[in-house]
Amino acid sequence: MLVFVPPHPLIKHWVSVLRNDFSPPPIFRSAMAELGRLLIYEASRDWLLTVSGEVNTPCGVADVEFIDPREPVKVVPILRAGLVLVEQAGCVLPASQTLHLGFVRNEETLQPEMYLNKLPEKFEEGARVLVADPMLATGGTIVAALEELTSRGVDVELIRVIAAVAAPPALKILSEKFPGLKVYVGIIDEGLNEKGYIVPGLGDAGDRSFG
Ligand code: PRP
Repeated sequence: MLVFVPPHPLIKHWVSVLRNDFSPPPIFRSAMAELGRLLIYEASRDWLLTVSGEVNTPCGVADVEFIDPREPVKVVPILRAGLVLVEQAGCVLPASQTLHLGFVRNEETLQPEMYLNKLPEKFEEGARVLVADPMLATGGTIVAALEELTSRGVDVELIRVIAAVAAPPALKILSEKFPGLKVYVGIIDEGLNEKGYIVPGLGDAGDRSFG
């Protein structure tokens, strides 16, 4: 499994804004959306299908390469907080389709419970899927989401996961279950506290975004 933390000052900046307990919801949300934009850009390198051709410029003819509009990326935000992370996906990706997945983690058992699933029963062969979940803590939620995708025919090698912050337990279980996966994260933190929250982390991304 590849875990990539882009070494870029803008990534560090937006993670820092997210971490700050004094960032109010509008600032928190715009930082999350901006971080998501940068992570989508990184995650889509060498992954998007393109078509080449020629166009007329005002001054001549140029060879060009466009993103293939026939192959929209399937963007899968994990509600709630994943919605904010993919807010800019429609702008970064010239062709995309959003498929919502709703999970909430039971605060007692820390097990994910699915309450919304807009995935198709079967994905087309070669489907490229971008999964967004700001926090990878125990890894229960992201593993459950990826199992939903792979059981519907998605090739794990064509999945990209983006997250604001990841903890070692989540990365460990992901690498065991999905060795071919690629994960792009803003930062990797040291661990979890007794409540299953990432420390130092950024708190509860859903509550900080939506109250
Ligand atoms: C949080 C977070 C992840 C999940 C991570 O969501 O946004 O989806 O928990 O935990 P895990 O790796 O231990 O499964 P939450 O359940 O709080 O839902 P929300 O986004 O609606 O707040």
